[in-house]
Amino acid sequence: MLRTHTCGELRPEHETQEVTLCGWVHRRRDHGGLVFIDLRDRYGFTQIVFAPENKNLFAAAEKVRSEWVIKVTGTVRKRLEGAERKDNPTGGIEVLVQGMDILNESKTPPFEIDQEKDIGEEVRLEYRYLDLRRARLQKNIAIRHRIVRIIREYFHSKDFLEVETPILIKGTPEGSREYLVPSRLYNGNFYVLPQSPQQLKQLLMIGGVDRYFQVPRCFRDEDQRGDRQPEFTQFEIEMSFVEQEDVIQVMEGCFIELTKQVRPDKTMPDLPFPRMTYADAMHTYGSDKPDLRFALKFTDVSDIAKTCGFNVFSEAETVKAMRIPNGTRLSRKDIDDLTDLAQRHGAKGLAWLRVGEDSGPVAKNAGTVFLEALTQATAAKQDDLLFFAAGKYPHALEPLGHVRNAVAAKLGMVDASTWKYVWIVDFPMFEKNTEGEVGAVHHPFTRPHREDEDVFHSDPLSARATAYDLVLNGVEIGGGSMRIHERDLQKKVFDVLNITDEDAERRFGHMLKAFEYGAPPHGGIAMGLDRVCMLFAEEPNIREVIAFPKDQKAKDLMLGAPSPADSTLLKELGIQVVQ
Ligand code: AMO
Ligand code: AMP
Repeated sequence: MLRTHTCGELRPEHETQEVTLCGWVHRRRDHGGLVFIDLRDRYGFTQIVFAPENKNLFAAAEKVRSEWVIKVTGTVRKRLEGAERKDNPTGGIEVLVQGMDILNESKTPPFEIDQEKDIGEEVRLEYRYLDLRRARLQKNIAIRHRIVRIIREYFHSKDFLEVETPILIKGTPEGSREYLVPSRLYNGNFYVLPQSPQQLKQLLMIGGVDRYFQVPRCFRDEDQRGDRQPEFTQFEIEMSFVEQEDVIQVMEGCFIELTKQVRPDKTMPDLPFPRMTYADAMHTYGSDKPDLRFALKFTDVSDIAKTCGFNVFSEAETVKAMRIPNGTRLSRKDIDDLTDLAQRHGAKGLAWLRVGEDSGPVAKNAGTVFLEALTQATAAKQDDLLFFAAGKYPHALEPLGHVRNAVAAKLGMVDASTWKYVWIVDFPMFEKNTEGEVGAVHHPFTRPHREDEDVFHSDPLSARATAYDLVLNGVEIGGGSMRIHERDLQKKVFDVLNITDEDAERRFGHMLKAFEYGAPPHGGIAMGLDRVCMLFAEEPNIREVIAFPKDQKAKDLMLGAPSPADSTLLKELGIQVVQ
């Protein structure tokens, strides 16, 4: 070891000891004829002092700059009374330096390491190794480590076996575009990077592993957002001979444990976690990931709207109203901004009404009978504001769900001291995409709801799946399902999805084959580790909890990836780049 102690270790009881510390020069201050340096490493800061008596050493200390790496030997002494720093665990002492080695110099960093200023994210990502030295990321990296450790211990204590699954595989039908890896030995053929180990964990169940656990990396070539990365980490399980309830309970136990250990400052008022059907969540909150830390809810006014005289409402299949108590807190400008938000999420507009006022689209267009019925149905009072969504369930309700979140944030309705977990259950099995084709909401191995097993084939769009998501504070942190383990049932699902026998054989032949050799009933769930860490660290996006993230355009700005490949390599792979 080059050091006797870390920079976070020394206390008044070390007084008079001779110690050697190594670290980075965090801050240097010259005053009263002395040079003070805050020496930093992962463990903390120690104040080291250079006195003018030793002229050479003092001169060397004056030359030292921020982020130089130094090694110092000196004596621990208590700080003068009044000079102690209560906010620093080493704040009771300092080290009077007797010798210093400069281990490395540093260029002036492109941003200050010692300050929590807002710095452009591009430069932070380009110099991620410097960003990692800063307090924010040091804290986040440590919290992530702690979370993974607690998760591992939890699942190991419950008899789950940690099994690694391969990264070079064949396509996984998780719904996103896949990353391809060209094969050198078989030109024109490609491996696919897993969107998740979905098929492999099911094959492990067929392999008799019974309880599987892993913290796998997943790859999805999709558009980036604050809570998405092209490669991300899950922690996930698969279990045999179980039902939905068993999977839910085991994962719920994990999150209760995690929250208690990592965020004891947060209360979880709802234990066990409440369950809500997908349909209820959509009807009441306009979202399949409702934030339950605030009380805003939708009221269905479809029936009374039928004869209201306002076309937007009377012609709509579904009309919902959301009441904002004391709506004068929102200005006309706020309402315009919320309308923009609704439109960005696909709404044609955002109708609104202020109770007791003639302004706004609804008051102008709808009859008084309707307005009466409306205030009754929503229990609206003078000055309350009502926002509306009109159109087809479920998609027309989503914009109002986004408005709901934005209003709560704007009006400070979110109680940040409580954490609201909720299980969303009974997802639809299938949905129509924008081209009108029927697709799987989760993935094609998801088992239909027991009550819908006989009818999903004839009426796919109303069939429910045994699929469930866990939501925390309005963020979907994970999802899973019971799986199909019978070849016949699987084939029926492929039929609904318009996957021909040939196609199924080509894409999932290995799964269908395996199902013929005694596949046990099984199910599982996968959690987004990055999202969990983001919420536990109270960060606004997942890049803050990933050591080396991609930027929002899927680039690694530090490494400069992606980048062109060497032409000889491409030749070996049988690949020609078309400009
Ligand atoms: P799903 O696709 O819902 O399920 O993924 C599970 C969880 O992973 C997280 N997640 C992401 N996090 C960051 N960046 C991304 N691009 C990203 N995509 C997903 C989310 C999500 O809830 N195989 C199934 C699970 C199962 O059925 O067992 C699956 O992967 O938090
Ligand atoms: P229009 O008839 O399109 O001018 O719309 C009249 C009012 O209703 C405007 O204030 C729109 O913002 C609003 N509006 C239009 N479509 C919807 C909808 N689907 N849901 C809620 N409000 C809407």
